[in-house]
Amino acid sequence: MDCFSLSLPLFLLVLSTVSAGAASGINQNGKLGESRPRRDLLDNGLGRTPQMGWNNYNHFPTQLNEELIRQTADAMVSTGLAALGYEYINLDDRWAEQNRDSQGNLVPNATRFPSGIKALADYVHSKGLKIGIYGDAGTLTCAKTMPGSLGYEEQDANTFASWEIDYLKYDNCHNDGIRPQERYGKMSKALLATGRPIFFSLCEWGDANPATWAPSIGNSWRTTGDIKDTWGSMISKADLNDMWASYAGPGGWNDPDMLEVGNGNMTTEEYRCHFSLWSLAKAPLILGCDIRSVDNDTFELVSNKEVIAVNQDVLGIQGKKVNRTGDLEVWSGPLSGNRVAVVLINRGLSTATVTAEWSDIGLNSSVIVDARDLWQHSTTTTIQYQVNATLDSHACKMYVLTPQ
Ligand code: GLA
Repeated sequence: MDCFSLSLPLFLLVLSTVSAGAASGINQNGKLGESRPRRDLLDNGLGRTPQMGWNNYNHFPTQLNEELIRQTADAMVSTGLAALGYEYINLDDRWAEQNRDSQGNLVPNATRFPSGIKALADYVHSKGLKIGIYGDAGTLTCAKTMPGSLGYEEQDANTFASWEIDYLKYDNCHNDGIRPQERYGKMSKALLATGRPIFFSLCEWGDANPATWAPSIGNSWRTTGDIKDTWGSMISKADLNDMWASYAGPGGWNDPDMLEVGNGNMTTEEYRCHFSLWSLAKAPLILGCDIRSVDNDTFELVSNKEVIAVNQDVLGIQGKKVNRTGDLEVWSGPLSGNRVAVVLINRGLSTATVTAEWSDIGLNSSVIVDARDLWQHSTTTTIQYQVNATLDSHACKMYVLTPQ
């Protein structure tokens, strides 16, 4: 029987008793020595690897409409990005009318979405993609242009399911000071009760340490405030998100916010660092640029199959910062097949050599590896003791090390 045809009481039983299968996979290669708490997981079957897709907010915070969504869905397929795993096309704030209808239903904004959301969902599905929508665990959304779902959780979840929505980003504005566990928990149950698998993306900004309670409620949870298209903002989100690494795993991921790659205010090397760190940290890969007119540099970054494969690795362990010497950092984490992913990064203003010693990344000194440079697409065989690279300011290298 399909689990989404279970009765509600059985669903909730499943919800409360399932724990992360991934927890037993920790340290299966005996590296990094981290032990993680067992987790009770939201059992909607989604998010076994971090979600991939697109959301309008970073590039089009206010210009959302159905034409943009249709064109973006088209571009996702025609560029080849869909085939690489980017599957969700997500609407952010401003998709609805300011007021509910006389039955209390959310109403698509007539100017922006004259065809309605169901027709748009049908279009996105016809391209082989999935569609996401935005709501708020308060009385009003952050832009204050549409109602929140507080007190309307079941009704709104049913509306989303009737439109065949696949993903809900659920924001935290105007929340009347009610505990987030309660507000987000209600929507989580309401989504499950619809019987439709809807990816639940909590956007609580990390305020109440959601990593500690959200794995049983959602498939991902923001650990930070909003990212901006600057190096300082991006790298600070990576650092904040890193604190919660041990809580991420298949079914539920830390979310340091959506990608700014391609939005124009960072250098290509800075965007390379952004995409490398997000991939290593098993962060959601939600593109935030205009993919209808993506430039070659941006495309080369976000379409790198080997980097995406690190993000989507079945082991699902969030890579972490494992060594820092001033501005020079080593980030690393285990991958399936006894492999190790490594990012070397120079956060300083001048060129410097960054070194990852085997002891930093959980390898015994006797281990000999082949090192795949994921951005150069080249392999160096028979390396022992360390990998190092001389890096310009705000540049990085990303490797997968495979023991011989
Ligand atoms: C908040 C969220 C953002 C975005 C805006 C929309 O700031 O954190 O990601 O959804 O609201 O208004």
